[in-house]
Amino acid sequence: MPSNRHTPRSVLVTGGAGFIGSNYLLAAVPTQTAVRFVNLDALTYAGQRENLMSLEDLPNYAFQQGDIADRGLVERLFESHNFDTVIHFAAESHVDRSILDPLAFVRTNVLGTATLLEVARQRWKSRGDVRFHHVSTDEVFGALGPEGFFTEDTPYAPRSPYSASKAGADHLVRAYHETYGMPAVISNASNNYGPLQYPEKLIPLVIQNAVSQDPVPVYGMGENVRDWLHVLDHCEAIDRILRSAPDGTTYLVGGGEERSNMDIVHLLLDLVDEALSREAGSSRRLVRFVTDRPGHDFRYALDGSRLAADLDWRPSRSLEQGLRETVAWYLANPEWLEQTRSRTYDEYYTTQYRDRIDAGNPIQAR
Ligand code: NAD
Ligand code: TYD
Repeated sequence: MPSNRHTPRSVLVTGGAGFIGSNYLLAAVPTQTAVRFVNLDALTYAGQRENLMSLEDLPNYAFQQGDIADRGLVERLFESHNFDTVIHFAAESHVDRSILDPLAFVRTNVLGTATLLEVARQRWKSRGDVRFHHVSTDEVFGALGPEGFFTEDTPYAPRSPYSASKAGADHLVRAYHETYGMPAVISNASNNYGPLQYPEKLIPLVIQNAVSQDPVPVYGMGENVRDWLHVLDHCEAIDRILRSAPDGTTYLVGGGEERSNMDIVHLLLDLVDEALSREAGSSRRLVRFVTDRPGHDFRYALDGSRLAADLDWRPSRSLEQGLRETVAWYLANPEWLEQTRSRTYDEYYTTQYRDRIDAGNPIQAR
């Protein structure tokens, strides 16, 4: 395998106020003190600058509110900071929202990624010491049946507006590499969990509702399967790929922890009961089977052997341990959940989607 080391010095992180970006920056900024980080984030409902307050006084960190699709702004940032690296997290990231408002996903995920690539191409014309790392998802490969795994060579077959827009972004990154020689890498990760995840995604939603003893909506029969990856394992994989992968490569990043939704929900409810000294299993009665998500992908599972073989990376946390720590984090940070929801859980989403899901009514796209 060709070695292709990249040493970041001045990094544009997009979407760093979201779930994975916050975890990445909280780990990287204090430890990589020779690297300068600029966090460009639009602060949509999913982004919280408060997540990163502990970084704001550090000399190697700066925050810039703004839109990745704003070409003038991205050009000015490249001009001022002479970036040699882009780590591109920013996206509209929630499948259910993409069913309601697909164009928002096309705009940010496709046009926003294209804007970043185009500015980087103009600025990096004659440079070899640069790299664009695109953070993507295994959902671009579509849905699996009960058997088999995605590999890096699986054909793309996205089935939701979210995954289609991420696939479009992946194709653009690859096209910039093939056409213009853009030094780029792509990582496609499985479902992440951990601290600071917006409580519209399954794991923080279940923890939140278990704590408040509200109904826990399970789509369909809860038989769909996901592979779960701790966010800090994902962040470590991103750093490994960014610094050591050959240009133009793609790596799948998985947790090696496949579970049905029902198993995950029960595990979480039991962990909350245990942590709050409630009667064992008592929160399981909160489960409500609700109308299924349209086009609900049955199963995601991936073969992480290329990343293990080439870059010696494997996840370090078991799901059981990771979920235990995650439940403990949300229980220790009730004000984060409260503030996140009350400030930003927008009326559009709750009235158009969440309330109907919670009431077990059919989901309708606009
Ligand atoms: P998130 O929704 O928690 O955060 C997204 C961040 O991007 C937010 O801070 C938001 O304000 C920002 N943003 C949105 N639109 C923007 C725009 N136009 N300009 C600038 N900033 C904008 O998402 P996440 O879960 O942290 O996911 C981060 C990345 O990882 C995404 O690209 C996602 O597709 C990918 N990914 C996520 C998972 C997962 O399980 N969460 C798994 C694999 C890949
Ligand atoms: P989610 O966290 O939205 O991630 P993704 O759709 O990107 O995999 O959902 C994870 C799984 O949980 C998915 O199969 C849908 C299901 N789900 C529920 O059953 N109930 C819920 O309230 C949510 C948000 C998700």
